[in-house]
Amino acid sequence: MRTAVVTEPFKVEIEDRPVPKAGSHDVLIKVERAGICGSDLHLYKGTHAFRKLPCELGHEVSGMVCETGSNVARVAIGDRVTVEPQVGCGDCEYCESGNVNLCVGKTVPGTPAWGGTFAEYFRAPEQTIYKLASDVSYDSGVLAEPLAVAVQAMNKRANGESGSMAILGCGTIGLLVLAVARHRGIEDIYCTDTAQFNRQMAIKLGAKAAFDPLSCDAADMIKAANSGHGVDTCVVTASARNIIDQASSVTKKLGEVILVSMITEPIPVYTYGFVFNERKLIGAMTYTTGAFAEACELINGGLDVESIVTHRISLEESGEGLEILDKKKEDAGKILICP
Ligand SMILES: NC(=O)c1ccc[n+]([C@@H]2O[C@H](COP(=O)([O-])OP(=O)(O)OC[C@H]3O[C@@H](n4cnc5c(N)ncnc54)[C@H](O)[C@@H]3O)[C@@H](O)[C@H]2O)c1
Ligand SMILES: [Zn+2]
Ligand SMILES: [Zn+2]
Repeated sequence: MRTAVVTEPFKVEIEDRPVPKAGSHDVLIKVERAGICGSDLHLYKGTHAFRKLPCELGHEVSGMVCETGSNVARVAIGDRVTVEPQVGCGDCEYCESGNVNLCVGKTVPGTPAWGGTFAEYFRAPEQTIYKLASDVSYDSGVLAEPLAVAVQAMNKRANGESGSMAILGCGTIGLLVLAVARHRGIEDIYCTDTAQFNRQMAIKLGAKAAFDPLSCDAADMIKAANSGHGVDTCVVTASARNIIDQASSVTKKLGEVILVSMITEPIPVYTYGFVFNERKLIGAMTYTTGAFAEACELINGGLDVESIVTHRISLEESGEGLEILDKKKEDAGKILICP
């Protein structure tokens, strides 16, 4: 089968690899869509924390089951599905408490043990499979994974269904946080993004206002548009050296900053802003299995996520898709690969 592999930094080749064998507890999926995500970009640049080159790309997938192992009972050939791309070790304290996202022994795609989704076929254990409703498109189904990141971030909120929010950065993840927040009934949501295209997307998805942090004091603008005191929750989904301080100053006293961005280098933080105002800084790492299931329920329930998709490309164009994201060559929301 054709598989996209990063052979060296900035070089993607289509290799002919054997179709994965489904073990007795596995299913084999004919891939219809694979999503390009920030971690694929790290892999493409050769800067990924643990995936070493050469390496297969992709962990977001939707497709149709074409083979099932002898012990598979819950899934059948012909089912349209998506996959939670993680399997915990099963017996550490984090797996036991339902926080498989924090398991250090978890297995993920793009490793020799599992393979990648930028391919014609993808093998996955039955326990990771979620069925898509018959009226849900593969384009929506493949977004279950990034949507689960957004659900996890929203589940870290103390304010439940009430309160106001700021979202700093409206790429895929920020826009999906916005979609989940709107679905939960939150109306006072203010966004920032340096790109006009992304600010427009945020307004389309229901943000009250979207500001460019390069041309105004975004924290002041958001406070002025809200109560003047700041928002209850600020979700950080962009990386910039001043982003945590910006998040702190846009958040009211006793409020919370939820950090989703992977900021790979140390940045300065004005700690006084947190201490003096008793603000909380909370990390959100991928998703628990519960958050993934919730994301699938939202998609099966008809939540519009598909409108963030801007590009559909072939497997052979995987390298070009990564380059568009890397160089910000054109306005892009989510880029999907259609093998
Ligand atoms: N915690 C997790 O489990 C997890 C999972 C997925 C992604 N991430 C991280 O979340 C972040 C967002 O991911 P994404 O896929 O949406 O990336 P993305 O590149 O699509 O989105 C980032 C957005 O931030 C905007 N931006 C850049 N500088 C900004 C600034 N100073 N202020 C406001 N906006 C700014 C960009 O224009 C872009 O639209 C990345 O850092 C990614 O690594 C974390
Ligand atoms: Zn992803
Ligand atoms: Zn574990």
